[in-house]
Amino acid sequence: MNSGTDGDMDSDTANSEMSEYWNDRAGPNWVNFQQQLDGQIRILGEKAMDQAAINAGQQVLDIGCGCGDSALELARRVGAGGAVRGVDLSAPMLDHARQRAGLEPALNLEFEQVDAQTGDFPPAAYDHIFSRFGVMFFDQPVAAFGNMRGALKATGRLSFVCWRALDENPWMSIGIAVALQFVAPPDPIPPGAPGPFALAAPNRAREILEQAGYSDISVAPLDQEIYLSGPGTVAEAAALTCHLGPVARVLADADADTKRAVEEALITTFTPYHDGTGVRMASACWIVSAGTK
Ligand SMILES: C[S@@+](CC[C@H](N)C(=O)[O-])C[C@H]1O[C@@H](n2cnc3c(N)ncnc32)[C@H](O)[C@@H]1O
Repeated sequence: MNSGTDGDMDSDTANSEMSEYWNDRAGPNWVNFQQQLDGQIRILGEKAMDQAAINAGQQVLDIGCGCGDSALELARRVGAGGAVRGVDLSAPMLDHARQRAGLEPALNLEFEQVDAQTGDFPPAAYDHIFSRFGVMFFDQPVAAFGNMRGALKATGRLSFVCWRALDENPWMSIGIAVALQFVAPPDPIPPGAPGPFALAAPNRAREILEQAGYSDISVAPLDQEIYLSGPGTVAEAAALTCHLGPVARVLADADADTKRAVEEALITTFTPYHDGTGVRMASACWIVSAGTK
């Protein structure tokens, strides 16, 4: 199950800042909130998988697999005759993914610590390269997608789901508006910079994929209501919102009293959105698909 080479990765990789972020800061939080996060975005990953037509027997690479939820589902879909390899920068998230995979030993699934931008993938090995929100963090996206393309069979396809713009995603923007009642806005992130919205601009993914040598590119909107922290209470949704994602970035330098005040204000704001199962709000993504040339 575990073919990991964790710790062997060169610390001076092109994405060293992201590596530090996903290993030391965000990664442990993603492990702590894994169930709620999967409850939030699983539906988006599964919609992307449904469109990707991933079939039994296929060899699949899951990029930025994190705590393993999408890789587990991909492995269920390809079955015993296929195989899935999940790669990620984050050692704590990969450890968690391996623990989860251990509960389903029949799956043909392995995880490895690899920077997808620079890692050595076997050439022409995969029928499908998939990612659920794991391809927006490259500092050289054309190089990264080009590196992945070399791992696809001639008939292979890449597909992934990524966020559209913040103002199309009320599940994030509403929380930010609440936080900004308490703290000053952080420095703006330049458009296209590595981060959750790197591929948000309508033509950005297509341009990068064309430059990286892909063909037959499709970029389709997905508008889908999601549960902010999966099924659960308003307080759980507020806590998750303060700990991870764009609101956590806004609160990065806030003191404990301010964070507590924001969390309480979020509970008030989120309460009308609780539908009896969880806090439900609109989200907006792109589902991107491309072939090799
Ligand atoms: C938003 S999280 C998504 C995790 C997972 N796909 C999910 O849906 O739960 C982004 C993931 O991409 C990974 N990542 C970022 N840059 C990467 C890179 N250059 N190579 C491999 N993984 C990377 C992070 O470590 C993190 O696990």
